Formats: sequence, C-alpha cells, structure tokens
Amino acid sequence: MNKAQHLAIIMDGNGRWAKARGQNRTKGHEKGAEVIRTISEYAANHPQIAQLTLYAFSTENWKRPKTEVDFLMKLLERYLDSERDTYLKNSIRFNTIGDLSVFSPKLQAKIAQLKTDTAHGEKLLHTLAFNYGAHDEITRAAQKLQASQTPITVESLTAALDMPTPVDLLLRTGGDMRLSNFLLWQASYAELFFTPTLWPDFTAQELDAILSKFAGIERRFGGI
Ligand code: IPE
Ligand code: IPE
Ligand code: MG
Repeated sequence: MNKAQHLAIIMDGNGRWAKARGQNRTKGHEKGAEVIRTISEYAANHPQIAQLTLYAFSTENWKRPKTEVDFLMKLLERYLDSERDTYLKNSIRFNTIGDLSVFSPKLQAKIAQLKTDTAHGEKLLHTLAFNYGAHDEITRAAQKLQASQTPITVESLTAALDMPTPVDLLLRTGGDMRLSNFLLWQASYAELFFTPTLWPDFTAQELDAILSKFAGIERRFGGI
C-alpha cells in the first residue's frame, strides 16, 4: 500500500464557485481559505500524510486585476492571524515556498513569526506556496549554486530548491488538467489526480476517497 507522505494540492476554482452564486470572486477565496483549515486538520490527523503543500498564489497570479491581488494579500495576512490556533492545536508546522522578498517587511515578519511559533509542530509540515512558480524556484536554486560555486548535481540542485522533498500525490481541483508551474521538479514521479470539484466545495471525504485510490496504485519509478 502506498503512503501519501507528501500531498500537494493546486487549489483551483474559487472564482468560478463565487460566480456560480452571483457573488464576487473574493467570496470564493474566503470560502477557499476555510477549506484549507478543514483539509489541514484532516491531513494533520492522517497517519500517512507527513507533508501538505498548497498552491495559494503563483508567480503568474500578479496578472490578475489589482483589486483581486490586493484582496489575496490581505486574506493571507488575516489567515496568518486566524489560523495560528489551528496550527498550534493540531501540532502543525507552518512553512512557505516561493519568493517572499517582494512582500512588505511587515508581512514577511508575520510569516517568519508564525514559522518560529510553530517550529515544533510534528504532525504535519504545512507549506503554503506564495509568489511561487517552479521556473522561478529552479532558477533561484541554480543561481544560489552558482554564487557559492557549488557543482550542479541532481542532489545539490534538489537541496537548493525551496521544496527539496518529492511529491507523492499531486491533486488539482477545479477540473483543469494542467500543472500551472507548480512543483515541476518535485512532481517527477508524483501520481496525478484531477477532480472537477471546485476548491470551496472540496471535502475531507473526497480527499479520503482519493487517498484510497492512491494507496492501490503500483508505483514503479522506472523499474519493473
Ligand atoms: C484558485 O482559484 C485560487 C488562486 C489562484 C488564488 P481561482 O481564483 O483561480 O479560481 P478560478 O479558477 O478562476 O475559478
Ligand atoms: C493555479 O491556478 C494557481 C493557484 C491555484 C494558486 P490558476 O487559476 O492561476 O491557473 P491557470 O491560470 O488556470 O492555469
Ligand atoms: Mg484558476
């Protein structure tokens, strides 16, 4: 039976969820943030999941209207405050991937504080991908190695990435079958799952069913 040690999710469909209800896209993002809590608590209490990595804002999402981008930045800030207790209560360790250097010093400090406060969480490593793109991540990793004159090998490049751990199960909600620049290196042997369910409608029950399917897959990694 496969263990889904590292589960990664492209949380897509917030805008369509809101539109279908005649609401502003921002309502979908708000509901989506609540679903993050449900799924994170489920993952923290699931014996086979050690890491959960969630795609929250891509390097391409800056193309969206300023009002939506501003809302997402505020939502992240609110999330960091409101979810502190969820992290501490469930022994979840908070982490991020992506280039945070573009954010305000205040937001960066808040992120760093939550990482420090949750550093001994041992039930789940919970990583939010924010201003994350795999091309940017791999490029920054290569630049780091170049700057320190470290020879480029698969191992050194992997270690220099924001996320050095391979993904076992990669799931995308919202019905589209693409990776949208998420964890391209780490997903080399991930099992891919796509569901039409929009992220605000996603439930722990559906995740449970996906994990059961995943458990039965024969993973060969190029062998026989
Ligand atoms: C995913 O939902 C959340 C972010 C990208 C921030 P979308 O906002 O992409 O929702 P859809 O795909 O337009 O429905
Ligand atoms: C991927 O969703 C990014 C996140 C979920 C954060 P998008 O909605 O940005 O992806 P595309 O544009 O449909 O590929
Ligand atoms: Mg989308």
